[in-house]
Amino acid sequence: MRILVTGGCGFIGSHVVRQALMIPNVERVINLDALTYSGHPQNCFDIEDSRYHFIHGSINEESLLKEIFQTEQISVILHLAAESHVDRSINSVKPFIETNIEGTRIILESIVEFKRLGQDIHLIHVSTDEVYGSLNPEDPPFTEKTSLNPRNPYAATKAASDMLVQSFVNTHDISAVITRCSNNYGPNQFPEKLIPLMTLNAMNGDNLPVYGDGKQIRDWIHVVDHSNGILCAMLGLIMGRLSTGEVINFGASNEVENIEIVEKIIHLTNADKSQIKYVKDRPGHDRRYAMGFQKAKKILGWYPEIEWSEGLAKTVEWYKENSEWVESITSGQYREWLTNQYGETI
Ligand SMILES: NC(=O)c1ccc[n+]([C@@H]2O[C@H](COP(=O)([O-])OP(=O)(O)OC[C@H]3O[C@@H](n4cnc5c(N)ncnc54)[C@H](O)[C@@H]3O)[C@@H](O)[C@H]2O)c1
Repeated sequence: MRILVTGGCGFIGSHVVRQALMIPNVERVINLDALTYSGHPQNCFDIEDSRYHFIHGSINEESLLKEIFQTEQISVILHLAAESHVDRSINSVKPFIETNIEGTRIILESIVEFKRLGQDIHLIHVSTDEVYGSLNPEDPPFTEKTSLNPRNPYAATKAASDMLVQSFVNTHDISAVITRCSNNYGPNQFPEKLIPLMTLNAMNGDNLPVYGDGKQIRDWIHVVDHSNGILCAMLGLIMGRLSTGEVINFGASNEVENIEIVEKIIHLTNADKSQIKYVKDRPGHDRRYAMGFQKAKKILGWYPEIEWSEGLAKTVEWYKENSEWVESITSGQYREWLTNQYGETI
């Protein structure tokens, strides 16, 4: 297997790169990352494996992509590169359309071109539970058969890219699987997302901005469990346990309200409840996500292994112990974004 990981300097991508290198018959792992604000070279600095190589560039650079396919004889793409933050997609959807839709289009058309030349490339397209929309309290979790109903611009661009992948499977007979996962937590996550944002603010004695009533529910999964799932899907597709065009959901049956997470983080950091500041809710904020992952269990033998309380405590510990990483990522630009997003509450 000669793997191209797109977005391998991001939160999930950096864990996928590490875990892919643990598979003995993986010959090569190329990490193509544009290093946008959320991509951090330091996430992969310590990887010394000679099979690993980083290339600074964008999936939107078609000629670069094809050069990598050819010179590295790529046989699998784990496609994670994306604009991934809902709040940013509300401010401007343009970069989301460029990366999530147009970037995926370029990958798909390049795969078709190489297939014609006799080089088959499998694609694992990494997507999200957000494409399914929002659940009511009494609804069962999403399954792979749930209709797509994206309700924010980020989710709409991910759903569009999922549908492009499925259309290319049907029309061009490419080999591809779509994985959809619930909210990830763990080390190396850019601190605009809930858990690292609250952890760093709690540690610094800053305000903890909570959207609306704080009762939005997500099904939290550790990033290592998700990364394992992506690699299981890759092996499943290559070995024929999964057919091309299939969708696989990953979740953790771990539904938690945002406010409960904030309170746990306050406890883990010895912060104070008075730091909580309720702010105006995000427009169109989905209320509840929950993922059914029976298919992954049955076909891939995959299930989440990291227990939530322990996983969260270790994650908070990681942010405490990695102040250099935190300092390098929380630049002036990041502070500026926080103030724009949450106003004077920070
Ligand atoms: N974070 C979650 O909870 C979650 C859950 C389910 C699915 N996902 C999906 O997983 C993937 C990774 O998410 P993440 O949380 O690690 O995101 P992230 O924002 O931390 O990482 C994205 C990475 O992609 C890179 N990138 C952006 N545009 C690029 C381009 N044009 N070319 C090459 N690289 C580019 C960035 O530099 C960054 O390193 C995304 O596709 C996301 O939709 C995320």
